[in-house]
Amino acid sequence: MAKALVLGGATGLLGQTLTRVLKAREWEVATLGRENGNLLDMTFLQAAIEDARADVVFNTVAWTAVDDAEDHKDEACQLNRALPAAIARCLKALGTGFMVQYSTDFIFSGPGETPHTEESTPQPASVYAHTKLEGEKAVMEILPERSCIVRTAWLFGPGRKNFVDTIIAACQRRDSINVVHDQTGSPTYTLDLAHWSIALAEKKATGIWHAVNSGQASWCELACESVSLAGASCRVVPIDSSEWPQKARRPAFSVLDNSKLSEFLGKPLRPWPQALRDYIFSEYLPAHTSKGAAQ
Ligand SMILES: NC(=O)c1ccc[n+]([C@@H]2O[C@H](COP(=O)([O-])OP(=O)(O)OC[C@H]3O[C@@H](n4cnc5c(N)ncnc54)[C@H](OP(=O)(O)O)[C@@H]3O)[C@@H](O)[C@H]2O)c1
Repeated sequence: MAKALVLGGATGLLGQTLTRVLKAREWEVATLGRENGNLLDMTFLQAAIEDARADVVFNTVAWTAVDDAEDHKDEACQLNRALPAAIARCLKALGTGFMVQYSTDFIFSGPGETPHTEESTPQPASVYAHTKLEGEKAVMEILPERSCIVRTAWLFGPGRKNFVDTIIAACQRRDSINVVHDQTGSPTYTLDLAHWSIALAEKKATGIWHAVNSGQASWCELACESVSLAGASCRVVPIDSSEWPQKARRPAFSVLDNSKLSEFLGKPLRPWPQALRDYIFSEYLPAHTSKGAAQ
């Protein structure tokens, strides 16, 4: 039986689903988070990684508060760059264990209409994006032969509040909601991402991978589809980003090209509306849940 250590596995949006899917696929799983100790204390971290004796360490821990990162650069840097670097150093010293490090579509920015491939040049435009990109680089420098970087985007799934949940909660309280229409990305279901991550880990697939559901959407389109699937009658009103000021700059177009991963898996990655339907039906309308829908 393969052994996994999932950092963030007890509480994170992705971490919880990844832990559940690993267990369902008969991996032996341990989780590690701040509930166990200070992950930034190198003595603690090293001992925890050594004790776990994991075949694969999945690091889902990150400073994900994109706007707050603008005012907490050092803390964001500690979690998004120093922590993955430290994990990679521990595994290098151990001489065994594969590392899966998660990163983000936000490392891309600017206008454009062509999905970003693994070869596209990053242009981080916020503190969060800069620190995540530095985390990628550190892992690839320290442990290139035993790690992969999985870039994902716009996550929805069970276990922790996300954009889709926020929209569904809002549309149950209000007749109309305003949602930004001029930022376009790749909505992605954590359940699908968990399965793809495990496939990459099982094959020890090194390098960078773009792991997102197929298709693209604006936040407004994602909200419309969520409201419609939830059966609500609320109106979704498109607004410009300038009407919804946020501290950190967001990319106008951060769609990720998933063809490298699709080729690796030997099948297309399912479109986000299909994945969203499964999420909303299983989370909000369980009576509709279709069987065997994962992936
Ligand atoms: N969510 C998205 O839409 C999205 C998009 C692109 C990429 N990603 C990337 O995907 C990965 C997973 O994201 P996610 O959405 O699952 O993240 P999340 O739900 O925000 O979870 C982050 C995890 O990090 C832990 N954490 C935060 N601050 C910590 C600290 N100071 N010390 C120890 N642990 C700390 C959290 O623990 P607590 O529960 O205790 O706070 C939680 O377990 C990240 O690398 C993220 O950058 C996410």
